[in-house]
Amino acid sequence: MPEEGEITIRCILVIFGGTGDLAHRKIYPAIYNLYVSGKLPENFALVAVGRRDFNNEGFREAAAESIKHYSRENKGTPDDIVHVVSSFYYFQIDFTKGEGYGQLKEFLETLDSRYQTMGNRIFYLAVAPEFFETIVTHIAANGMTDQATGFKRVVIEKPFGRDLVTARKLNDVLMSAFSEDQIYRIDHYLGKEMLQNIMVIRFANTMFEPLWNNKYIDHIQITSSETAGVENRGGYYDNAGALRDMLQNHMLQLLMLTAMEPPVSLNTHSIRDEKVKVLKALSPLDKESVSTNVVRGQYGEGIINNRKVPGYRSENRIQPDSDTETFIALKVNIDNFRWAGVPFYLRTGKRLAEKCTKIVVQFLRLPAILYYKDYGNLDPNRLIIEIQPREGVKIKFNGKKPGSKDEIIPVEMDFCQNCEIGAVSPDAYERLLLDVMCGDSTLFTRWDEVEYAWQFVDNISEAWSAQKPAFPNYAAGTWGPPESDELIGRDGRNWVNY
Ligand code: BG6
Repeated sequence: MPEEGEITIRCILVIFGGTGDLAHRKIYPAIYNLYVSGKLPENFALVAVGRRDFNNEGFREAAAESIKHYSRENKGTPDDIVHVVSSFYYFQIDFTKGEGYGQLKEFLETLDSRYQTMGNRIFYLAVAPEFFETIVTHIAANGMTDQATGFKRVVIEKPFGRDLVTARKLNDVLMSAFSEDQIYRIDHYLGKEMLQNIMVIRFANTMFEPLWNNKYIDHIQITSSETAGVENRGGYYDNAGALRDMLQNHMLQLLMLTAMEPPVSLNTHSIRDEKVKVLKALSPLDKESVSTNVVRGQYGEGIINNRKVPGYRSENRIQPDSDTETFIALKVNIDNFRWAGVPFYLRTGKRLAEKCTKIVVQFLRLPAILYYKDYGNLDPNRLIIEIQPREGVKIKFNGKKPGSKDEIIPVEMDFCQNCEIGAVSPDAYERLLLDVMCGDSTLFTRWDEVEYAWQFVDNISEAWSAQKPAFPNYAAGTWGPPESDELIGRDGRNWVNY
């Protein structure tokens, strides 16, 4: 993991899909913020590869506009933006055809001499997955993966396949040109500050780790809710749904970090080894358990922020009779010594009541004596890790109401790391891009994580395919279908929605 202020490694970042949404919204602002915070290497150039007709000047102007618009903060000056984009280049080719790759190689070599980047290259595939194979094949065929002259790394975005079979195929393509340690599979949740904080909270605090097991914990809830709908991504989302779009990756990452054993060290392999063991220990779901332990939903029209919003089936580029789920809630069990008997409830969805990602750890009740005898309905102790938009930790416990004889009230200790004005955490992409430059793949997904995640998720999609859902089944602006409350309510528990 790179240290604060550490000089990163000189390189050229080559972005396929450099005129696309992801590059403009996330990558260029992240590069700019790395520069402003002194973390971008001096010897750095960026080459956007695209099919559209741009020259360097036009591309730099567009990138500068995106930086102004999307950058999380603007501590730098307009001169800083001009300076950053002056090392941005545009290279026009139809990357689906082989012809231009030889010229691209030559162009990168020219930049290499200009920027003294010593042959180090990062190829970032910010394109739809159907282009991965052709790009990777042409890069390799043109001798651009040779590590004898500097490191060569490849970054890819999700979706990493749409099931285990397609993910394996995709992985084979990547592995034909790169080795596992050259491949950086992005899950942007891992770049979020509070996700990285989960391990610190667990493994750097005597007051949490000894309680982190089935002797003291009743259950754990992980929620990632959005108020947004599918926005302009209907074409992609209607083929994915909440299961593939959020659960297979982000939600399972949250689960792994919450449930993993302490790694023997903080090195990449040790951490990833422990994470993957959680997936291996997941109680597999079969058709029957999917019908009892998994709930799917799709939003109908409703009200969000006092504004009427359309139902999913009326959104742009969505089939009017679509059965794609925009919500999923499930109960999972982890069959190992630490977690046997402790259910994990996960839920995620679009057009819900609130935008928030959080982990709620609910502790067991004390024996029914003393206060628990007389005040049986005392609130349980809870630890709430808030991932976003509020970043913090809350501890809820019981205390004596001041002035009363022995009345008990729930009280709260609250730590918030981004509540102060001006406290803006770095965007996930800043951290992740910096890590790729430094060759640290800890916050990226290893192939076996992807494989086990798909195995788990495929069981759910197979079970679902046998039954047509009755959609829409929740109104936009609510917490999802009533079956989600029933899922957790059956066990005498309820979702924590505050
Ligand atoms: C993406 C999904 O990976 O994560 C989107 O494809 C989702 O559908 C997004 O909206 C949520 O990310 P964040 O950072 O806003 O929680």
